[in-house]
Amino acid sequence: MCGIVGYIGSRPAVDVLVRGLRRLEYRGYDSAGVAFFRDSRIEIRKAEGKLENVERLLNGAIEGHADATCGIGHTRWATHGKPTTQNAHPHQTGHVVIVHNGIIENYQELKKEIIGRGGHPKSETDSELFGFLVYEEMEKGLGLVEAVRASFRHVQGACSVVVLSEKEPGLVVGVRNGSPLVAARDPKGGTILASDAQPLLEYTREVIFLEQGDMAVASSGELRIVSLETGKELEREAARLDWSPEKLDKQGFPHYMLKEIHEQPGALVDTLNGLLERASTAPFPLAEQPGARLLDSAREIHLVACGSSWHAAQVGKYWLERWARIPVSVDLASEFRYRAPVLGQGAVVLGISQSGETADTLAVVRQMKALGIRTLGITNVRGSTLSREADAVFYTSAGPEIGVAATKTFTAQLLVLLLLAGYLGLRRGADPQGAIPPLFEQLVRVPHLLADFLGSEAMASAREAAAALAASKGFFFIGRGYSFPVALEGALKLKEIAYIHAEGYAAGELKHGPIAMIDEGMAVVVLAPRDGWRDKTVSNLEEVKARGARILGVGAADDHALASLCDHWVPLPAAVRPLDECLLPFLLTPLLQLFSYEIAIRKGTDVDKPRNLAKSVTVE
Ligand code: AGP
Repeated sequence: MCGIVGYIGSRPAVDVLVRGLRRLEYRGYDSAGVAFFRDSRIEIRKAEGKLENVERLLNGAIEGHADATCGIGHTRWATHGKPTTQNAHPHQTGHVVIVHNGIIENYQELKKEIIGRGGHPKSETDSELFGFLVYEEMEKGLGLVEAVRASFRHVQGACSVVVLSEKEPGLVVGVRNGSPLVAARDPKGGTILASDAQPLLEYTREVIFLEQGDMAVASSGELRIVSLETGKELEREAARLDWSPEKLDKQGFPHYMLKEIHEQPGALVDTLNGLLERASTAPFPLAEQPGARLLDSAREIHLVACGSSWHAAQVGKYWLERWARIPVSVDLASEFRYRAPVLGQGAVVLGISQSGETADTLAVVRQMKALGIRTLGITNVRGSTLSREADAVFYTSAGPEIGVAATKTFTAQLLVLLLLAGYLGLRRGADPQGAIPPLFEQLVRVPHLLADFLGSEAMASAREAAAALAASKGFFFIGRGYSFPVALEGALKLKEIAYIHAEGYAAGELKHGPIAMIDEGMAVVVLAPRDGWRDKTVSNLEEVKARGARILGVGAADDHALASLCDHWVPLPAAVRPLDECLLPFLLTPLLQLFSYEIAIRKGTDVDKPRNLAKSVTVE
């Protein structure tokens, strides 16, 4: 998604902008640009492709622009118009320069009107039109702040903008009207604005998350928050963030994704610590969480999410049904919002989104709230839209995830879902056999087991298998039970970072069609741990093996019968054996993440920023 940075103060603005845009690169982009004041004129440098191309236009010498102390920057992820330099932001209309994140839905009408009034947009974007509107309002005599407010009256759709004008050189005006925008006072004087908090953390931890309809009006001396609708000044408190800048660096790993795979044990521990009452000796002590209290009276739960979060929801369904004996549905947010779902009395809708900004998931939460249905969220980002709009929220504490592919946020989401299943099971008296307390004892050991597993022989075997299978023409990932959604997630990882066609399938479904695809060129990753489904899965393995596929099997280390059927073999260590089968996704998922990572680096893809992808999908 597009990323925005704006700055005014006493620091060299171009340096602040470029560093800030680097922090936003993880969101995915295809062109970039900066605009900065030189005396009272605005200069723009923008280019197709990576940020380096913009730095080259700055002659590689950001210091050479040290006298500029006000500017805006942008990374663009194309929605309207190709990813060209012409379409890159910032866009200039006369003395007005803007950057924009989001979509202007009525852009075609606006474009016609602007052309009818003699305007000549130079790009194919919807964004540039906003600059025309501001310019026209200023030409009618309005100041920059009022002109921005007036322009929004003509615009439909969710977006954020940051605007400069050569007529008012001491001012940066930002608006959140949908897509997120955050602001912070620079302790050295001045203000920095950005699409998320990461560019700000180098300078301060005190961050204001602008609300829908907030305008940030920043000069070098002050930052005011003003209502877009009324123009009146608003009080907005800064939140203190605990994400240190060091957490944002790679810490010796070649890629953020690999670092984040290895951070999973810590992410699980932090998530447990963040949600459980530490003083309690009871299993699944979640009762103090406002969200848990809301779930107490739930009679059915509807899980709604996109992408990896949807896969987490699928695992969550198995857990909630097994442990809490409560009806659960799982839906893609983009489908649910346009269906006519039937929700019963006592329904709770739980939106899952690591970013907390996914447009479709937010739309479902808003729709349900409007219908009077209780909503919950699971998110990794404090202050995100989901965290503010759901009735209550459970936070994962995975820390910042820079790699576009979800890794540690996924396993942290799993953890929250299992905590909810165990908590609800006890609450609802759904555990006559007393199996939930021992499950909790095992669960708190999972981070340690995972840490050992990540350094074990199993990972070395996964690496070898990746090397051997990297050239396969396609992959199936198959499993049953808890391993089925894990297989879906494994296939998604391979597609997104290695650009190899992969399908995740319930092992029992293969013979209903996809088995026709199997031949010698295909690889099949078979998840067959020693669980209630193992024998059935092994039968499905035999079916694909008989048709020539190369098999990577994952199973118990002492499952020699299974190992002998596989071309490549990843043994799950003996330490895992005592675990309840429902905990295996915490180990199998990181294994598949690493497997995909190893294939991707062999293919030389941009692992942390895969093509065409964005970290936070704020358009539907
Ligand atoms: C995961 O690797 C993907 N990058 C993507 O599918 C992601 O899970 C999806 O876009 C949903 O994002 P969210 O969790 O922030 O809502």
